[in-house]
Amino acid sequence: MATWHISARSDMGNIILTGFMGTGKSSVGKELALRLNYRYIDLDALIVAEAGISINEIFTRDGETAFRAIEARLLSSLKGEENMVLSTGGGAVIAGENRRVLRELGMVINLVAPAEEILLRLRHEHDRPLLNNDKSLERIRALIAHREPFYADADVRIETCGKTVAGIVDEILISLKRIGARGQA
Ligand code: S3P
Repeated sequence: MATWHISARSDMGNIILTGFMGTGKSSVGKELALRLNYRYIDLDALIVAEAGISINEIFTRDGETAFRAIEARLLSSLKGEENMVLSTGGGAVIAGENRRVLRELGMVINLVAPAEEILLRLRHEHDRPLLNNDKSLERIRALIAHREPFYADADVRIETCGKTVAGIVDEILISLKRIGARGQA
């Protein structure tokens, strides 16, 4: 565990967390927002709030294409936001237009974990429609492999395995300072 504390700064710009399901985007996002005194926004939560039904239900009733359309529209509606930490759903990076919006919004941080670790973290979860029918290591590996180029389109990539949420937040803040948030070296 880290024994020091990276202080918040006011010129970080928005911070966007991307990554496969189970990489810790929500836990890390909430902690990061607290540390920076930023607003925390969860894109999946916005989708659920607007639809009035769960993500499982959206997929079952309307299909993945309909889910992706809501996801893209709500993501786009965040343009102009400031002082925000945004967690995105694991598939939000697939659409090129979404990735363009993410870059426009701020610094993109991709959280990474090995497929074996993802399986361990999600083995008792039933709210991931893309894994509900097949939660095998092979399925997770295939999805990660397909999405890898999209996850790689990030300012910073952080391996999360074996690290605490606080430690990951420290790493993110250090990386952002190093590369210079908002392009300020
Ligand atoms: C998805 C990930 C989920 C949610 C939806 C689709 C994906 O979000 O958006 O089930 O395609 O990887 P989390 O990454 O927060 O689980």
